[in-house]
Amino acid sequence: MILLYFFILIYVVIIAYFNLKYPELRWNWDIINDSNLKFPKNFFWGTATAAHQVEGNCENNNWYDWENSVDKKGLPRIKDNQKSGIACDHWNNYKQDTELLKKLGVSHYRLSIEWSKIEPQQGEFDQSVLNHYSDLISYLIKNNITPYITLHHFTNPLWFDKLGGFEKKSNIKYFKNFCKTVFSIYSKEVKNWCTINEPEVYSVMGYFIGIFPPGKKNPQLAAIVHRNLLIAHTEVYQELKKMKNGDSSSIGIVKNVMQFDPARRWNLFDWIACRVSDLVYNEMSFSYLKYGKIKINIPFFIKLFYEDKQAMKATDFFGLNYYSHIHLKFKFDKHEFFENVYPKNDTMTDMEYTIYPEGLYRAIQRVKLIGKPIIITENGIADKKDDRRKLFIRRYIYAMLRSIKEGVNVKGYFYWTLMDNFEWAEGYDMKFGLYKVDFENQERKLRDGSKEYIKIINESN
Ligand code: GAL
Repeated sequence: MILLYFFILIYVVIIAYFNLKYPELRWNWDIINDSNLKFPKNFFWGTATAAHQVEGNCENNNWYDWENSVDKKGLPRIKDNQKSGIACDHWNNYKQDTELLKKLGVSHYRLSIEWSKIEPQQGEFDQSVLNHYSDLISYLIKNNITPYITLHHFTNPLWFDKLGGFEKKSNIKYFKNFCKTVFSIYSKEVKNWCTINEPEVYSVMGYFIGIFPPGKKNPQLAAIVHRNLLIAHTEVYQELKKMKNGDSSSIGIVKNVMQFDPARRWNLFDWIACRVSDLVYNEMSFSYLKYGKIKINIPFFIKLFYEDKQAMKATDFFGLNYYSHIHLKFKFDKHEFFENVYPKNDTMTDMEYTIYPEGLYRAIQRVKLIGKPIIITENGIADKKDDRRKLFIRRYIYAMLRSIKEGVNVKGYFYWTLMDNFEWAEGYDMKFGLYKVDFENQERKLRDGSKEYIKIINESN
């Protein structure tokens, strides 16, 4: 009997500890005044895209192959067998699309350059493609739009994938070579660089869940790929900093932060599922950037130790991509240990997650511990009906402003995304765009809900 009481006591103490340490923040929006959001003078506004999602004709990368392949059961990889194809034809429409940026009133544009187009074969750089990006960059600058260039946003050239991609640490040198080449060409004009977009999403989706290329389901390999991407960031950062214009450039990593909250706050198994997910998804990068250390030991699944003190703070800014949190519920099933559940009073987005502005505030509180300026490099909502976008925009931006008022150095915000585009495994069904795109004729139309963003930009200073 005494032993039973003892176990109950221990259980209660552990649960109380978790509850206190990881509260699920909720604000009372009925009493919050989120009208008239004033920002510091130098705060900047932007929108973001990525090459494969908007440019069209990306036919030499791993995603093209993935879109044109089937799984073991013969089923297509992308929802309804959609292909990225011509996408928004941003390649040819970038001048009109710059007008769209200007109409929003943003001063910044985050875009990626497509490695597989620039270096179609190992060591062979395509001059016409390099010229295209030069034209695009100059055009943006001429129109007073500051570019933030992402060097890697999910896609690899096929030749790099054939060599094993980021599964092999020794392949980082190929990516470094690409980065150095483009930096030497564009760094005179481009002052802001994002190295790797979302190492955790790339590795978890591609190597754990298996719905991104290469479709593997191997937790240990997922962790190795994640680590290699972090190392790639550090090495690229160090190399570019040594180059001409390196000193005057701002170079940072972009990480997605997602909170894992337990479906039942009294259930120890739910808590374990959350803490383990957080370790692999979030803490791994945080500890790498903050202490230069990776330490993961999940018996039977992942064992990974890595240390490089040089990695500590080797980033000029922290690019934070934030969308939402998820609730995990543990289940006894040998194939899947937990499932996502959604609190019934919360509003869903069209993606499998809810609107949760408090989460952006929480994410910023955590990121600030790295001690670097923060830039919100992505934040947005998939909302086909356009009946939640307005609320989403105001509340998330309010949450960001609240952190700034409390003294956190958040320098800018990029809305994801400028216009509807190819949303990876979801194809074209997810409508994240400020502008609606008619893919029959490439017409773009500002959504009503997006006007809230313009309004906030106007009232912000
Ligand atoms: C991010 C990704 C973007 C975009 C966005 C919306 O993870 O970087 O490319 O797809 O999600 O889901």
